[in-house]
Amino acid sequence: MDLRGRDFLRELDFAPEEWTYLLDLAAFLKSAPRGGGRLAGQVFALLFEKTSTRTRCAFEVAAYHEGANVTYLDPQGSQMGHKESVADTARVLARMFDGIEHRGDDHEAVTLLAENSDVPVWNGLSDLWHPTQTLADQLTLREVTGKPESEISLAYVGDGRNNVANSLLVGAALIGQDVRIVAPPQLQPAPEIVAEARRLADASGATVTITDDPAAVAGADALYTDVWVSMGEKKSAWVERIEWLMPYQVNAQLMAQAGPQAKFLHCLPAFHDQGTAVGRDIFTEFGLSELEVTDEVFESDASVVFQQAENRLHTIKAVMVATASPEVVELA
Ligand code: CP
Ligand code: NVA
Repeated sequence: MDLRGRDFLRELDFAPEEWTYLLDLAAFLKSAPRGGGRLAGQVFALLFEKTSTRTRCAFEVAAYHEGANVTYLDPQGSQMGHKESVADTARVLARMFDGIEHRGDDHEAVTLLAENSDVPVWNGLSDLWHPTQTLADQLTLREVTGKPESEISLAYVGDGRNNVANSLLVGAALIGQDVRIVAPPQLQPAPEIVAEARRLADASGATVTITDDPAAVAGADALYTDVWVSMGEKKSAWVERIEWLMPYQVNAQLMAQAGPQAKFLHCLPAFHDQGTAVGRDIFTEFGLSELEVTDEVFESDASVVFQQAENRLHTIKAVMVATASPEVVELA
């Protein structure tokens, strides 16, 4: 499988066998000795217009493991965004770097970046998609269920039209999974994204369910949730989100409804206690100490969120190696 030179912007840009190759490569790299040198001598730009822990660290550590170096740029420390457009920044950086990661708001920005540079561009999250997250989630589901992709079922519960939900929906449809988006009517995925998922499902044999009924979690291998208000959204959105989404909180009752096999996944960061400034503000304003997931579920044996977080490293490494290494990595 030769993905050299390809951008990594959204699941929709990949054929099922290309996507599955990335998962296989990630599993291979996870078990391979560190220090493969597959990206030796390369230098990558990491552009972050929003904050990050996992994505930034995964790109940095993956690059170092494979012999590359990185330059991290945020809007405060560069001209990007306030004095220079993303497209102009991209055209400058493409002349210096061997690959560019971008985390921003409007998906259009990372698309522009890719159009304006001839090195691989990797989407580290946009308002519409979070494809490196989906790869890590799918590797985790493989590991914890031990099932082939086509037998895995996943119920995403919460804000069903955010970047993580869109990516999971389309990514699952691409590789034949049973994917259920369980969300209130106001927060279901956009019709054009559902249409793309159904088109992919017709080819892959996936089952796509969009519903507002929490009972749809029954029998799922995993329940997945994400924050109720995403980065870049207005703080005032919390009022209506709490009202709409509290019935979709992942708590012990919902886990029991799913069944004893169900694992819990979350892309993180999560509001499951008052260990964050935002969590404490929410407590002061609304009297709630846990939001999209209860602390009980987050800390339970069913929770695989830190294995999932570690898998960001292995899957992002696979994306970088597949698209930027001078050699194709053949898997036995
Ligand atoms: N899941 C995720 O993308 O985390 P960060 O925002 O910390 O990168
Ligand atoms: N939906 C979340 C994902 C964070 C990893 C956000 O965009 O803030």
